[in-house]
Amino acid sequence: MEEAYTIAHLSDIHVGEKGFRRDQVLKCIAEVNVLTPNLTLITGDLTWRGLYKEFEEARELIDGFEQKPLVIMGNHDAYNLGYNTFEKLFGERMIQYEDDQIFLVGVDSTQPDIDAGHIGRVFQDHLHEVLLKAPKEKIRLFSLHHHLAPVPNSGRERDILTDAGDVLSMLIEDNVKITFCGHRHVSWTWHVESMLIIHAGTVGSPRLRGMPDQSYLIIRIKNEEASIYLKFIGKKEKLIRKFKLD
Ligand SMILES: [Fe+2]
Ligand SMILES: [Fe+2]
Repeated sequence: MEEAYTIAHLSDIHVGEKGFRRDQVLKCIAEVNVLTPNLTLITGDLTWRGLYKEFEEARELIDGFEQKPLVIMGNHDAYNLGYNTFEKLFGERMIQYEDDQIFLVGVDSTQPDIDAGHIGRVFQDHLHEVLLKAPKEKIRLFSLHHHLAPVPNSGRERDILTDAGDVLSMLIEDNVKITFCGHRHVSWTWHVESMLIIHAGTVGSPRLRGMPDQSYLIIRIKNEEASIYLKFIGKKEKLIRKFKLD
């Protein structure tokens, strides 16, 4: 791999929330369009209450990316039958994407009217089958809205995936190298055995918790190593973690 494979990971846009930072979301989109990543991934909470109008505005904003991002749902998107609207405006709630270097699976970990995430045994078995069929030479990536491990400095450690232990064990067994999460609005990474878990902050919510500003992440993969950069919108990116993929 000569050029770095670049991923822009952003999350928690939250159209419709009081104090929604549309200006920051637009700046983030402009920055990502200059970055021209190989892949842009949005890990859910596009809206505040899952309402049609909110989804429409989220769709209009996301259409501003010159390269079409991969998008999954968050718990806020599942309110008010939002999962139906998500399917109408964004497509499948489980995504599978591959190019010549990566194989990515993204799932809907939400439950209607419940903030905690859940994958479930039947769906876990299905994911296991999908991951087993991934080409060996490609880097396996996984994404969901909820976190698989508690995120420090967020003031709250609830709403973790209710079957996080089983899912974590499956992902490691299936040789997933990076899992991308959102939800907590705090940027953080955990290295668990052979896998890195990456949590993006929020690009549009005013609920920043311990973070000073809206942010997203840039991941550069080169020579079997992933470098994770924290990018506050409008500021210089900052290296926060290096991770060996082999
Ligand atoms: Fe959120
Ligand atoms: Fe969330």
